[in-house]
Amino acid sequence: MSVVVVPTLMPNARAPINASAPVGIFDSGLGGLSVLRAVRALLPHERLVYVADSLYAPYGERDDDFIVDRTMAIGEWLVAQGAKALVVACNTATAQSIALVRERLSIPLVGVEPGVKPAAAVSKTRVVGVLATAVTLRSARFQLLLERYAGDCRFICQPGHGLVQAVERCDTSSPELMALLEGYLAPMLEAGADTLVLGCTHYPFLDRAIREIAGERLQLVDTSVAIARQLDRLLETNALKNSSAAVESMPRFCSTADGESQRQLAASLLHLDASVEHVLIPSRRTRLAEPDIV
Ligand code: DGL
Repeated sequence: MSVVVVPTLMPNARAPINASAPVGIFDSGLGGLSVLRAVRALLPHERLVYVADSLYAPYGERDDDFIVDRTMAIGEWLVAQGAKALVVACNTATAQSIALVRERLSIPLVGVEPGVKPAAAVSKTRVVGVLATAVTLRSARFQLLLERYAGDCRFICQPGHGLVQAVERCDTSSPELMALLEGYLAPMLEAGADTLVLGCTHYPFLDRAIREIAGERLQLVDTSVAIARQLDRLLETNALKNSSAAVESMPRFCSTADGESQRQLAASLLHLDASVEHVLIPSRRTRLAEPDIV
């Protein structure tokens, strides 16, 4: 793995925005790679910079202020790197901080939220399971989504404790993980759920494990393709779409941790053989705790 320490630029020291500038994609860790996969498929000419805040994942176990602090710091860092648009590819960060990020950053922004609306539209049994982090499930934004779109559907909401950590160590099939998932899915299946909302961007990497447990009984609702379409619309509206075929297609991968899991997951699940840069992104809550990397 190649590890490069990139100095943090001052938030205001940024290049002018134009269509050839990159799109920034950010997640607490590796989950946003499922969004990056959809963005690359739809917008192959866009340059992408991906930041995994793996040093501080999982966000789902953090307090609200910590999540807002990290999301703002990484958003500002990506703006300083010249990003023309930002995808907050993390349900937990979106739930806690999207309003503030939208207010403070001057670039177009896309957030992600659990697919309650599409799930309610497709469920035949009118029983839907939702797997998401505890922070997402207890957020006001998620409660509002349920109020608006659940309709006559019963939503069984299950915090996926331990699942983000498993994906972060590239575990998508161990017996321990299967047992954990089975414990989460069995009550949904027993209650007659026919649809499962993947309310965390890490979970699409567990689709095979979920299929193994639930077979065809659950249709999986993953919003990554819808997010890519929303980004497409936003770039179009802001005249920021890059239609040049000459753009190099390998994303720039960055991590606040050592990046090894990110390199492995990108290679095994996205078939992208890329190096990962180690980046330092200090923030109010972590400044004192940043490790020294020479
Ligand atoms: N991928 C993040 C999400 O969509 C995981 C959050 C976490 O780190 O707990 O919520």
